[in-house]
Amino acid sequence: METALYDKDAGFFAVGRGPTGRSDFVTSPETGSLFGLIVANAIEKLWMEQGSPREFTVIEAGAGSGRLCREVLRSDRGFSSAINYITVERSEALRQVQEVTLGKFSNVSILADLPDSSTSGVIIANELLDNLAFDVAEFTTEGWAEVRVGLGSENVAGAGTPNFVEVLAPLDAEHRSLIPEFAARIGDRLPMQVGIVEWIARAAECIETGAIVIIDYAGNAEDLARRGGWLRTYRDHTRGSNPLMHPGESDVTSDVVLEPLRDAIVAAGFRIESETTQAEWLLGLGIDEEVASGEATWLAGAARGDLEALIGRSRATEAAILTDPEGLGGFTVIIARRE
Ligand SMILES: C[S@@+](CC[C@H](N)C(=O)[O-])C[C@H]1O[C@@H](n2cnc3c(N)ncnc32)[C@H](O)[C@@H]1O
Repeated sequence: METALYDKDAGFFAVGRGPTGRSDFVTSPETGSLFGLIVANAIEKLWMEQGSPREFTVIEAGAGSGRLCREVLRSDRGFSSAINYITVERSEALRQVQEVTLGKFSNVSILADLPDSSTSGVIIANELLDNLAFDVAEFTTEGWAEVRVGLGSENVAGAGTPNFVEVLAPLDAEHRSLIPEFAARIGDRLPMQVGIVEWIARAAECIETGAIVIIDYAGNAEDLARRGGWLRTYRDHTRGSNPLMHPGESDVTSDVVLEPLRDAIVAAGFRIESETTQAEWLLGLGIDEEVASGEATWLAGAARGDLEALIGRSRATEAAILTDPEGLGGFTVIIARRE
């Protein structure tokens, strides 16, 4: 998975695909400007809860195109003069996109990895965790085993393409600890999200006091095992399921398993303050009010048909997409704090 997504020459994100670029899928920040406005409300709340400090760091991990950062900085809130915004993006091609998107903001730093220093502020990760490398477990008659990737003898995918096949292997203790206890059935599969556990530990080192905000599709282990379909691929807007096909040309992603994520957050010295759906989170932060104010702007400027009026009108559509319980609105939002 690491190679398929992040190899510097051929990885899916390394060549600039993803939420922007060739648009293989759409994330909340990419639906328009509304999501960024609400995230600005969330940042303002956290900043005020910390006593409105004169310096406040926002680290956005897996920042993609930089669209969310741009909307937050455009929002012109109370924290605007205090904020030091760091975007962290592993893909060099996407960092180059950010140089263009964010070039005019003097308080933005674009990094390839989380900073080494520790600060007071907030880390935001929207749809990052689902893209961190995971291994796969399967429940067999012998208990849980790891599903690894091997090379098959027959080439089914076409000349010159390796024939990757699944191979079952024993599970080590570290991997086993990532599978919560539940009444598993033969054939059940789950992701073992080693990359998430490592990332949480690293992210926690960056925030001495403040919050980690995680937004992603997620579920409890038993629900995911029963439901299946948690491992998905996206290629040119089309959803697939076999990650061994078209490596480097497809996004490979998994629902986040909540139990080991919660454990990792607590082990890193944070407490979970809230766990809600994205729809609930956005409503609590005033999405309805932002839609109403957009409609008022539209009504006031409709006759002129100017850009600001059109943006105001589009907020209702964006809000419907962002709060759809069957889509982005059903994502899980976890806020973790360390005082
Ligand atoms: C699904 S995209 C989400 C992008 C953006 N947050 C959005 O919502 O539009 C995940 C992004 O995380 C980046 N990424 C993956 N692992 C990373 C890491 N360890 N550190 C920083 N960025 C990472 C990928 O390159 C990709 O741009």
